[in-house]
Amino acid sequence: MKFFIDTANLEEIKEAYDLGILDGVTTNPSLMAKEGISGDENVKAHYKAICDIVDDKVSAEVIATDYEGMIREGEELAAISPKIVVKIPMIKDGLKAIKYFSSKGIRTNCTLIFSAGQAILAAKAGASYVSPFMGRLDDIGANGTDLIDQITAIYANYDFGTEVLAASVRGPKHVLECAELGADVITAPLKAILALLNHPLTDKGLAQFLADHKRVNEK
Ligand code: E4P
Repeated sequence: MKFFIDTANLEEIKEAYDLGILDGVTTNPSLMAKEGISGDENVKAHYKAICDIVDDKVSAEVIATDYEGMIREGEELAAISPKIVVKIPMIKDGLKAIKYFSSKGIRTNCTLIFSAGQAILAAKAGASYVSPFMGRLDDIGANGTDLIDQITAIYANYDFGTEVLAASVRGPKHVLECAELGADVITAPLKAILALLNHPLTDKGLAQFLADHKRVNEK
């Protein structure tokens, strides 16, 4: 199971990388805006800075929604580094763009997946990753975990070569459900990833070990 971090914040990416658990990064236009990154050249420089931190797999999203625009932007993004995965929205022109990039050997991440049907289309077009948004489905009273279950079951029947990248992951429960269902990747903010660390018995046990050590060593 791979762990990606869902942020454009360089400090968070570095912190996660240094933990030794990071396999990649996902960004989106909202996350770039949160960091105040604007303008083509600044955006490219920021992606380059992310690529300089991590080993591979940095999802960079196109802004265009027409085929020609997505191809132009996607090629510019892919030229930044071989680590870039071009992130394309699940729309009709997006499918065509995925097919194009797949034929050029450029990896894609099809984003904003909310149904298994969309995941099938993205896989058939040749997406490297599909990103079903778990948290946003939960937010509207649907069930993000059920969608991961459905997509992993469908993909297991075929030989698509598309990885399930569970996105909009909000906490440890989502991560563990994805692990049980065999999702290939989860992407989450650092806070959600770090929440996996915590257990009260670990803290209690460590405090006891240190207290016992101190007791005999201070005699
Ligand atoms: C996926 O790649 C998206 O960037 C992301 O996971 C969206 O998550 P959110 O619903 O928490 O914004």
